[in-house]
Amino acid sequence: MSPFFSFILLALFLFFVISIQPANGQNLINETCKTSARDDPNISYNFCTTSLQAAPASRCATLRGLGKISMRLVHYNVTDTRCYIKHLMKNRKWDPYSKQCLKDCFELFSDAISSVKQAMKYYKSKQYDDANVQISSVMDAATTCEDGFKERKGLVSPLTERNRNTFQLSAVALSVLHMIQKGSDV
Ligand SMILES: *[C@@H]1O[C@H](CO)[C@@H](O)[C@H](O)[C@H]1NC(C)=O
Ligand SMILES: *[C@@H]1O[C@H](CO)[C@@H](O)[C@H](O)[C@H]1NC(C)=O
Ligand SMILES: *[C@@H]1O[C@H](CO)[C@@H](O)[C@H](O)[C@H]1NC(C)=O
Repeated sequence: MSPFFSFILLALFLFFVISIQPANGQNLINETCKTSARDDPNISYNFCTTSLQAAPASRCATLRGLGKISMRLVHYNVTDTRCYIKHLMKNRKWDPYSKQCLKDCFELFSDAISSVKQAMKYYKSKQYDDANVQISSVMDAATTCEDGFKERKGLVSPLTERNRNTFQLSAVALSVLHMIQKGSDV
């Protein structure tokens, strides 16, 4: 093989390595989040990339892997929030109305944990419509919890940030589900 030909081969090889690498990992997260933010006004691009990047192994994930990761994030979030509500009820004095709101939220998040677990099972067996229904109900739980506090004027929800996180993480998971169902490569 002539040195020149070897050089061309090497150059081609490097070109492929360099051009294929970013197509995986980080770039998939970015592209997925770009699509999510474009198709769903409830999703912020930065929120999406920050959340997915922080998850272990997300940079090496396929789209289907990202779907699983996003549901896992929802699972952690609702589990943590349920625990936080329990803590709030125990360690602070509340007026009766707020106390009832917290109780309702506790129930909602308990159900949300079951829903997301169910969604993950459906996802595993590729029953995407069923997974979609379960994740949607998690979004509704966050909204309903937050609305309880809003109904009483002057009341400040202690869960706004957490409800927002749950809502938006679920929206990301739904969006990835849609992409997988459409069979698009993002
Ligand atoms: C992905 O987006 C992040 C910021 O959101 C940026 O820092 C990074 O360079 C992007 N990576 C690729 C491969 O586009
Ligand atoms: C955005 O969230 C609202 C509820 O706050 C919902 O009614 C609407 O359908 C969502 N939009 C999309 C595209 O999912
Ligand atoms: C919930 O999600 C938000 C947004 O991704 C993240 O900042 C927060 O750390 C998560 N909490 C838990 C307990 O996973």
